[in-house]
Amino acid sequence: MKKKAFITGIAGQDGSYLSELLLEKDYEVYGIVRRNSITEHQRNRLTHLDNKIELSYGDLIDKSSLDNVLKKIKPDEIYNLGAQSHVRVSFEIPSFTFQTNALGVFNILESMREFSPKAKFYQASSSEMFGRSVDEDGCQRETTKFEPTSPYGCAKVFGYNLTKHYRKAYKMFAVNGILFNHESKRRGSNFVTTKVVKTAVRIKNKLENELVLGNLDSSRDWGHSSDYVNAMHLIISQDLPVDYVVSTGETRTVRDLCNYVFLKLDLDLKKYLKTSEKFMRPEELPYLKGDSSKIRNELKWSPKYSFEDLIDEMINFWQENYNNENLNY
Ligand code: GDD
Repeated sequence: MKKKAFITGIAGQDGSYLSELLLEKDYEVYGIVRRNSITEHQRNRLTHLDNKIELSYGDLIDKSSLDNVLKKIKPDEIYNLGAQSHVRVSFEIPSFTFQTNALGVFNILESMREFSPKAKFYQASSSEMFGRSVDEDGCQRETTKFEPTSPYGCAKVFGYNLTKHYRKAYKMFAVNGILFNHESKRRGSNFVTTKVVKTAVRIKNKLENELVLGNLDSSRDWGHSSDYVNAMHLIISQDLPVDYVVSTGETRTVRDLCNYVFLKLDLDLKKYLKTSEKFMRPEELPYLKGDSSKIRNELKWSPKYSFEDLIDEMINFWQENYNNENLNY
């Protein structure tokens, strides 16, 4: 019999790559999407998989929707990727962020406990949970304490702890992947990598004349989403639930990112780059660099994409699609 996977957040960047991976591995793939008033289904990233996956309406905030789906599907694996995933926006809508990213984890774990207790559960935990905390060697790893600096980070810490609690209290297979930033050509336009790449390409094509950013000095450890969904699947495929950090181990500033992209496009960054308070955060997470030795040693995971491969792929994609009106992410 085919294995069944249920994915919340299936319409997002990671959900779409994970769906492709699981279909390749011959899973039946199910997911929920929230109702959206702009397009009936917000599923741009999934149109190429239209007849291969099964979608229904649902929401992490609406436990009855989760109950119905789990009763019906009885999945073998549940991937909780659904979230309000934008850190700066979490300062503007903190209550919604907590409901989705914290209470939502509670809802799905409870629903699983009632209707699908033998399933395996993967929680999309985040390096944003580390906040201002860094080990003495300049890295964050599984043992680094959490000092979150945003409503998003605080809510993710709740989800992380709840996942461990359900694992211990109810002997459920519930596991955390602590993923550092991961990007791709399917990354939303209000995250810094896509914003920089897409704007630079549009400047090159004379459709825009400036790039307005917030903090240029923060450092991030950027990997590729397709490498990171491989890690998710490896983590959930183990016999025992063990939490892992997933990262490249390299860090760069937002300014480094801009320099790389503008140089590639033969543009003079100084002429176009501006900063605005609008894109600053009330509290910033200044520095992320993950040590993923544990998953590399124990599960033999390693990323295929370098930073340069990742950004080059994004540049090529946006050069082909910068004026594609149908691509609204
Ligand atoms: N989005 C954005 N827009 N970020 C900017 C901008 C801007 O105009 N200017 C500077 N930045 C800086 C942010 O302040 C941050 O330091 C860095 O660029 C990265 O921002 P994002 O791309 O928005 O990602 P993030 O690090 O806040 O959060 C992402 O990574 C987390 C894992 O650490 C998201 O994917 C989260 O969902 C994820 O958990």
